[in-house]
Amino acid sequence: MNTAGTTSARPVRKSTYFFGSLGGLLLGYDLGVVAGALLFITPEFGLTPLQKGLVTSSLLVGGMIAALGCGRVTDRFGRRFVVLLAGLLFGIGAIGAGFAPNVATIIFFRFVMGLAVGAASVIVPVYLSEIAPPRSRGMLSGLNQLMISTGILVAYLVNLGLAPFGAWRWMFGLAAVPAILLVIGAYIQPESPRWLVKKGREAEAREVLSRSRDATELEAELAEIRQVVAAERSQIRIGELFGDVRLRRILLVGVGLAVFQQISGINTIIYYAPTILTSIGFGNSAAILANAGLGVLTVVVTILMITVVVDRVGRRRPLMLGALGLSFSMALLAVTFFSSGIRGGAGGWIAIVGLSLFKISFSLSWGGIVWIMLGEIFPLRARGTAMGVATFGNWAANFLVAQFFPVLLGGGNGLVFTLFAVLCATAFVFAYFKVPETKGRSLEQIEEQLGASALPARR
Ligand code: BGC
Repeated sequence: MNTAGTTSARPVRKSTYFFGSLGGLLLGYDLGVVAGALLFITPEFGLTPLQKGLVTSSLLVGGMIAALGCGRVTDRFGRRFVVLLAGLLFGIGAIGAGFAPNVATIIFFRFVMGLAVGAASVIVPVYLSEIAPPRSRGMLSGLNQLMISTGILVAYLVNLGLAPFGAWRWMFGLAAVPAILLVIGAYIQPESPRWLVKKGREAEAREVLSRSRDATELEAELAEIRQVVAAERSQIRIGELFGDVRLRRILLVGVGLAVFQQISGINTIIYYAPTILTSIGFGNSAAILANAGLGVLTVVVTILMITVVVDRVGRRRPLMLGALGLSFSMALLAVTFFSSGIRGGAGGWIAIVGLSLFKISFSLSWGGIVWIMLGEIFPLRARGTAMGVATFGNWAANFLVAQFFPVLLGGGNGLVFTLFAVLCATAFVFAYFKVPETKGRSLEQIEEQLGASALPARR
């Protein structure tokens, strides 16, 4: 993210936004689709809880590997190349999973899709922020979250349409459509000007920039790019990141945000909401319908977060309130499972209220705000490296939760949701003591604040 105050007279090309959004959409679709597919794969292949976890989490292992490795490949071969590769891998994964004859093949192709999704989750926002004029960079992190939610919603709607036919193969296979669009997008979009400057191809960078900037803006931005590229060249390595006490403190905040976002249980809700609903008496189609309603709610609330919350209320307060809301919702879900007496009617309603409150709390806070803050808190010379570490932490925590959730369920649903309620309460404590307010502050002020004192200023 960039705070340079240059303004551009020319509008950003719409295709750039469309293209940038597509990465989030694919990510969301793939995360969301497994929820409905699992309902049908489980009986067809007689999945054990461990296999169920693997169908979900093999995607996340791929994501983790790609999040760590994709930086180097991108620097070497360019942004477009990686996006193109991601689109191809995505298509292969989607079609492979759609035709899979057994569980092992599904798990393998979900891993392939994970490589694509992980790469897209890192590179598409980077590419987009590099190609868009400075004034529109700030909102891109938020836009990305909106597209993830939209992708999840699209997956739910596809699940809804296909559930009556039990067509889980189509649920996976349809992801090939946005994958093809991604490949076309990568093909028609220009290369990132920042990468071109880095490779010494300034004339080409100038040409790309001239498409959406006038002459004065172009020179100013080119000068800025040269500076950023120089800073990136002196990017510190992972070892140095841990060696410096000030950086370690900032890294702790970043990794904490990324990890707590996951151990709130968001993705268990995304993957397993239909399973939770069927286990308290909903039919398969009713569960998928209720889930689609939750998807709509998430998109609406995410729009609210981007347009109102993050720039007016700030970051820290929504994170604290959100954590309390998440904890309370998980407690409600625990109650539903503990009280076997309220199965069916009342139990169903409490579960729906718990799930809705959870989605609202997450979308107003830990969903988008974590990604926005990760773009703000790291000093420039550590930004790339630290972002890689934090993103890896996010995928790794996502993996661990997805892998162990079905296994933990064996010990009792009520207990698992109580555990999540406690973890969300811990996220509140973390936000209260460790997370600074970054609203309306320049990146330099944030750096100063985080580096200068152990505890953030409270409001
Ligand atoms: C998280 C994802 C999650 C998504 C849900 C993102 O911010 O990183 O793990 O699936 O939000 O909307």
